[in-house]
Amino acid sequence: MSWQLSRRAALKLGAAAVASVWVRTPAAEAAPIALPPLPWEEGALAPVISAQTISFHYGKHHRTYVDNLNKLIAGTEFADLPLEAIVQRTYGKPNQTAIFNNAAQAWNHTFYWNSLHPKGGGKPSGKLLEQIERDFGSFDQFRTQLAQAAVGQFGSGWAWLVKNGNRLEVVATSNADTPLATGKKPLLTIDVWEHAYYLDYQNRRADYVNAVIEKLLHWEFAAAQFASA
Ligand SMILES: [Fe+2]
Repeated sequence: MSWQLSRRAALKLGAAAVASVWVRTPAAEAAPIALPPLPWEEGALAPVISAQTISFHYGKHHRTYVDNLNKLIAGTEFADLPLEAIVQRTYGKPNQTAIFNNAAQAWNHTFYWNSLHPKGGGKPSGKLLEQIERDFGSFDQFRTQLAQAAVGQFGSGWAWLVKNGNRLEVVATSNADTPLATGKKPLLTIDVWEHAYYLDYQNRRADYVNAVIEKLLHWEFAAAQFASA
């Protein structure tokens, strides 16, 4: 929250009294949802994802979802809610589609950045690996399912590893849809909107997906989500 001296109060009271007349500004009330910083430098995921892609994806696309959301919720019942609650309360409500789309995209993107790491890829370990092997048969079968979900998602969307009750599942969601809205616990995600890969891979979505799975998936982050599920 930012605070600013009311100009009228300052003029009336003079400089000696400024410390006691701070007010909450309209700008602070209009921007309750923040754009979190990236967890790594823009070029850190290259060559799998270029700095240029991250710059546009984070600096333009993600920022626009957050900016639009703040405009849409200003002065509404959603203005003071955490982002997760906005996503869950607007899901499936036809008159709140714009708020849901921007809130879900704001949340999905932050989750995506955290799902990637410059030293990612490989395999998880411990209890998460055990449950992946139990629920998918093997880690390789899980990898295949995740890649198929990501590549096979028609149009824009997301591929996810989620915990649904006691089972791990791979799911794909369309456009802004997110497992967060339907009570599943996301562990990892891959953004398969064209803006996520087109500058680097053009139409070769499968190459992007396979490179992300092989080199960037952040299994420590997934394990932390799994442990808190
Ligand atoms: Fe995206």
